[in-house]
Amino acid sequence: MPAIVVVGAQWGDEGKGKITDYLAAKAHAVVRYQGGSNAGHTVVVGDDRYKLHLVPSGVLYASIECLLGNGVVIDLPELVKELRELEKRGVNTSRLLLSESAHLILPYHKLIDGLEEEARGSASIGTTRRGIGPAYRDKVNRAGIRLCDLRHASVFRDRLDANRKEKAGMLAGHGLDWEQMAAQQLEAFAHVEKQVRDVGERIESLLDRGANVLFEGAQGTFLDIDHGTYPYVTSSTPTAGGACIGTGIGPCRMDAVLGVTKAYCTRVGMGPFTTEAMDDEGDRLVDRGAEFGTTTGRRRRPGWLDTVMLRYAVRVNSLSGLAVTKLDVLDHFERVRLCTAYEAGGQMHKSFPADPELLKCVKPVYEDVEGWNCDTSGARAFSDLPQKAKDFLKRLTELAGVPVLLVSVGASRDATLELGDPWELRRGR
Ligand code: IMP
Repeated sequence: MPAIVVVGAQWGDEGKGKITDYLAAKAHAVVRYQGGSNAGHTVVVGDDRYKLHLVPSGVLYASIECLLGNGVVIDLPELVKELRELEKRGVNTSRLLLSESAHLILPYHKLIDGLEEEARGSASIGTTRRGIGPAYRDKVNRAGIRLCDLRHASVFRDRLDANRKEKAGMLAGHGLDWEQMAAQQLEAFAHVEKQVRDVGERIESLLDRGANVLFEGAQGTFLDIDHGTYPYVTSSTPTAGGACIGTGIGPCRMDAVLGVTKAYCTRVGMGPFTTEAMDDEGDRLVDRGAEFGTTTGRRRRPGWLDTVMLRYAVRVNSLSGLAVTKLDVLDHFERVRLCTAYEAGGQMHKSFPADPELLKCVKPVYEDVEGWNCDTSGARAFSDLPQKAKDFLKRLTELAGVPVLLVSVGASRDATLELGDPWELRRGR
């Protein structure tokens, strides 16, 4: 009856959607626990390509139950749009359950997100402008509106009105139609009302019955509000601990945590990036990896794999193992770089610093591995990989201190090489 958490070990976009989709073949339920429509997963099934934002990747399997936990912030009209599009493509979305305690993203959150980004000028965070920060801020400030509030139209309207008054100064002159907003939310709620319930209770009963439950993280470790590169972070807890807080299940029910990392690194938005490659090699990583955001279409910043970050991700998430994605993107490089430490002012740093001023000054210390210069995208087993690619993965494993269990060499489900079954992982770290 394992409960496995899948987390991003970098700044998001590690390919968690693909790995979740792969693991979902043996899962009974897939749960999202934080974030909102700032996330974007591309999942390829046969010739079909699905872009998911809020709906867990498991929805593409006919038998899997999908759940959105209380830690997710929900843009309800956007969710209904996503569900309708999936339905149109023949996906049954009635297996999606939503936590009644999840908070809503309302149109004013998106507006405020944009206004605040403009006001920050050159210090902008580069948010997705999906209203994430303002929605979580209202939650913490106890001004948020939850899905359960929509069951009672008058309660919902009162809470909306309190927000209208509280935010009047900030929103003046932006012509928000509050009546239309209320009607739109209530209409969207009617579409999902039967699917709204206590998700924590449902997960517990699934685990009690021996089900395999996958907790699907969005964003990544270094976008975590507490453990990421603050203030260039999102406003939720993508790290593994968030899977408990964001679903209503206690830590002792989790069996293992799988970290997903690209074989290199990317970041969207602003903030420090020690191994950023602003050169021809970086451009090649972007081209070969098609590194443009699923949600915003922005070009991702490219760089080399940073094992200082990886070791930090192992600690804060208690990672039991790794899935390494997009290995094939490195196929035609003369050398492949692994950052093993940071150096600043003649001092070596083996651990990831929280202080942004220090992070600004550190320089990466690289260990170069000879490139394999051949195509790995056709590999269907670990043994199909060239020796130099195996050597790269071996070194990565040594530096991270946890085993690599999955290696991905392409977007399709069968382009996933299994070195160990993550469902067999048991609590250890
Ligand atoms: P927000 O989550 O929209 O507030 O954005 C905060 C930061 O997180 C920005 O740098 C975004 O680019 C980044 N971010 C948010 N969601 C994702 C994601 O799914 N992948 C990668 N970066 C993300």
